[in-house]
Amino acid sequence: MNRCEIGIIGLAVMGQNLALNFARHGISVCVYNRTRERTEAFMRERVRGEPITPADSLEELARCLTRPRRILLMVQAGLAVDQVIEALLPFLEPGDLVMDGGNSHYADTERRMEALAARGIRFLGVGISGGEKGALLGPSIMPGGTPEAYALAEEFLLRIAAQSEEGPCCAYMGRGGAGHFVKMVHNAIEYAFMQGIAEAYDFMKNALGMPADAIAETFARWNEGTLNAYLVELAARVLRYRDPETGEPLVERILDQAEQKGTGRWAAQAALELGVPTPTLTAAVIARTLSHFKADRERIAAGFPWPDRRSEAADPSAVTDLEAALNLTVLSAFSQGLWLLHEASRAYRYGTDRTEVLRVWRAGCIIRARWLIFLREILREDPEDPHLLFHPRFRQELQGRLPAAGRVLARAFEAGIPMPALRTAVDYVLSMRRARLPANLIQAQRDAFGAHTYQRIDRPGTFHTEWEEG
Ligand SMILES: NC(=O)c1ccc[n+]([C@@H]2O[C@H](COP(=O)([O-])OP(=O)(O)OC[C@H]3O[C@@H](n4cnc5c(N)ncnc54)[C@H](OP(=O)(O)O)[C@@H]3O)[C@@H](O)[C@H]2O)c1
Repeated sequence: MNRCEIGIIGLAVMGQNLALNFARHGISVCVYNRTRERTEAFMRERVRGEPITPADSLEELARCLTRPRRILLMVQAGLAVDQVIEALLPFLEPGDLVMDGGNSHYADTERRMEALAARGIRFLGVGISGGEKGALLGPSIMPGGTPEAYALAEEFLLRIAAQSEEGPCCAYMGRGGAGHFVKMVHNAIEYAFMQGIAEAYDFMKNALGMPADAIAETFARWNEGTLNAYLVELAARVLRYRDPETGEPLVERILDQAEQKGTGRWAAQAALELGVPTPTLTAAVIARTLSHFKADRERIAAGFPWPDRRSEAADPSAVTDLEAALNLTVLSAFSQGLWLLHEASRAYRYGTDRTEVLRVWRAGCIIRARWLIFLREILREDPEDPHLLFHPRFRQELQGRLPAAGRVLARAFEAGIPMPALRTAVDYVLSMRRARLPANLIQAQRDAFGAHTYQRIDRPGTFHTEWEEG
């Protein structure tokens, strides 16, 4: 009965599609889901002769697998992962491998890894991106844990991963919770990318008065150039879609409250803990949170008029400026995310190779974008540079776009349009390019009210001054 090469626990959207993906690549799969009806429906409705065997219990699943066992958990992140591991443990043996393919917090992954290691069981935290389609046709896969654990899974994961011209989009991301940390940063960049796109849409609609179809065409055109990216292409597709009932663009009928499941917030928290500035990633999380205060916004809007400064005719130069601005937002977001990865790898000893991260993001995942080729090229020149901003070619790409971004921000203000992703992206670049910031005054005030001391630029040492006037 030991015939299946991999076990999958959890048959919701991701688990089902990954099971089919493994099976279609010649890897036999045993599947289990807590609610049996879901397994039955999957076998009945989606399995068409692929080597997939259903199991009625975790014990049966464990019995069904070749040794050492390889088991992929695709259950809801959080408590469910602990519960499944606990229930599975009696049926595992030393040397078996458990992989968590959900969006788990990297600290939980490290805790689980240690607890299982004490019992001789290997554990990998596997970030998987690409949604439903990616899971079926080839996701981007970010595994982290011990190299030995990865070696047990590598061949299988490489087979189901998305393929790019730079190879399969799966690579070892480093020790401990590195896989889930990288996936978390991927999601944070995704938040910022989507916020940047939403701001561009808002600007075209409300500052330039463009209809949804024209905005869709603009995104489609941008997708042919430097902004070639899955999310830009998707924006065009979504904006073109018409509601069958009303004939209007469906997007205009959708409530303006964006959901989040936590990975963006975790990234912002991790960045604050590690002391890495990621303003654009954080701004995108805050923008989603703010969107939820719909009733408050409506109440405030009613008593807070703004002069209507919408252009009558489409303005091609403003659209060109906006394209440059969105490029800048995207570059800035990637730069912040890569800095965060650098610091996390150093602080948590992950040993993450960020050029491999960029390669794995090239296909299958939600943030796949043409810019990744360029970013990888320059990072490879000095993989230890924390900042892309140290690189002259990266700076050039930003510098050339700053004036256009400034014009967009000015015009957005005129029209009363918030652009937090763009604004923070610009401020980030402007701050990082300033050799001297006004933090000297902050430091002086801290010393004046709290005797926190300060350093001088003209001599070494730590100083305190009694700041009372003469
Ligand atoms: N959906 C996506 O596009 C996407 C993309 C990347 C990563 N992810 C991550 O991948 C994981 C799976 O996502 P998903 O959307 O496929 O499913 P999900 O909605 O996050 O989770 C549902 C699955 O978890 C199982 N489950 C929940 N609590 C359980 C428990 N206490 N014990 C055993 N099983 C339990 C459910 O079983 P029952 O059928 O019995 O309820 C079901 O199979 C999540 O961590 C998610 O964040 C999702």
